[in-house]
Amino acid sequence: MRVVFLSPTYPPEMRQFTRGLAEVGAEVLGVGDGTPDAELRRYLTDYLQVPSILDEEEVIARVHGWLRGRTVDRVLANWEPLVIVAARLRERFGLPGMSVDTVRGFRDKQLMKERVAAAGLRVPHSRRVRSVKDAWAAVEHTGYPAIIKPISGAGSADTYKVESAAELERVLPLLRHVAEASCEEFIDGEEYTYDTVCVDGAPLYESVTRYLPNALEMRSIEWVSPIMLSVRDLSQPHVTGGIELGRKVLTALGMGDGMTHMEWFRKRDGEVVFGEIACRPGGACIVDQINYTSDIDLFREWARVATLRRFEASTERKYNVAVVFKRAQGDGRITNIVGLRDYMARHGQHVVEETLLRPGTPRRDWKNTLLSDGYLVVRHPDWGSAIEMAFAAATDIKLYAS
Ligand SMILES: Nc1ncnc2c1ncn2[C@@H]1O[C@H](COP(=O)(O)OP(=O)(O)OP(=O)(O)O)[C@@H](O)[C@H]1O
Ligand SMILES: [Mg+2]
Repeated sequence: MRVVFLSPTYPPEMRQFTRGLAEVGAEVLGVGDGTPDAELRRYLTDYLQVPSILDEEEVIARVHGWLRGRTVDRVLANWEPLVIVAARLRERFGLPGMSVDTVRGFRDKQLMKERVAAAGLRVPHSRRVRSVKDAWAAVEHTGYPAIIKPISGAGSADTYKVESAAELERVLPLLRHVAEASCEEFIDGEEYTYDTVCVDGAPLYESVTRYLPNALEMRSIEWVSPIMLSVRDLSQPHVTGGIELGRKVLTALGMGDGMTHMEWFRKRDGEVVFGEIACRPGGACIVDQINYTSDIDLFREWARVATLRRFEASTERKYNVAVVFKRAQGDGRITNIVGLRDYMARHGQHVVEETLLRPGTPRRDWKNTLLSDGYLVVRHPDWGSAIEMAFAAATDIKLYAS
């Protein structure tokens, strides 16, 4: 099987998906604007370097010319900004996979909510807005607090919670560069993901992760140590409603083969509300977290599903896995890590990864990357113990910079 895989060099986990494709026996034709290093080259049969992978027309034209005289079986992309161009290429070459229209349902947040709502599922009340005037009209309808965010956003960029007209007034100029936004009812509740690996929209592997605090707070409050905690036991009552919702969303949007990443809320009264969904794997360590949850290699398993439409890994869930991101106090370079030694003495046997930046290293921009100044991954079969160890990593380990 010959597969065109878009952007094998970026984001970093795309290298793992490329490896997966090669390991299940596919010939991988990479297309991207980065330069693959020697290791990545080993997984690639050929590579087309384009000036900008985000320039859809240019990418389509160049890939078309490059493939002349060759047959390909799949065009795949696992990075959000490329899912539409992958679908356009599939349509151009008459290849199997999700159509442009289907993929738009996973990419356009307003269309997505309309399609999910049409299936009788609960979504936040929302409107598409294209101007300042639209935004004022929309909050009349949603009330406060409201959320305003780009129609095709990622990483919580340009996403704001507004509590009042005064706040909306302040935020609107910040959204001037966003052509289309969604203005929606603010859902007050716990936030979770629902991640899957699907064949023909049927989830052959499912996973749920709790965000602590909610994603928007993780991205906007510097002093917190954000935690992502995968749920081992999916029959726990606080997650079953979200899983049921997720399965119906997959059907409503016409999911095909591949991975999905959905976000949903559970309100205090137990009501479950859809947030958003993407037809690609979650970013920021989610796939690693799932791998640690079941001790499997989902990078390879995704590749098997995307090419051979078979899932062969174990679906057993062995651990609750917490990823705890740390942010140093102060600016500049890391000077000191406090509490790590004690933490490792107490919980070290449950820590599977520790990537905290060492003294001397410049701090990362926490606004740009959830990876922040490094993270710990700790896992335990018991939910209560996993939460306790995650919270201990959040509060007892401190990084300083100056
Ligand atoms: N209607 C809402 N009610 C409450 N919180 C919301 C709502 N919409 C968005 N949020 C918060 O803002 C975050 C970012 O919004 P959303 O997931 O739609 O954007 P994104 O930029 O695609 O996110 P991601 O970080 O997953 O790429 C959500 O995870 C959630 O915490
Ligand atoms: Mg999101």
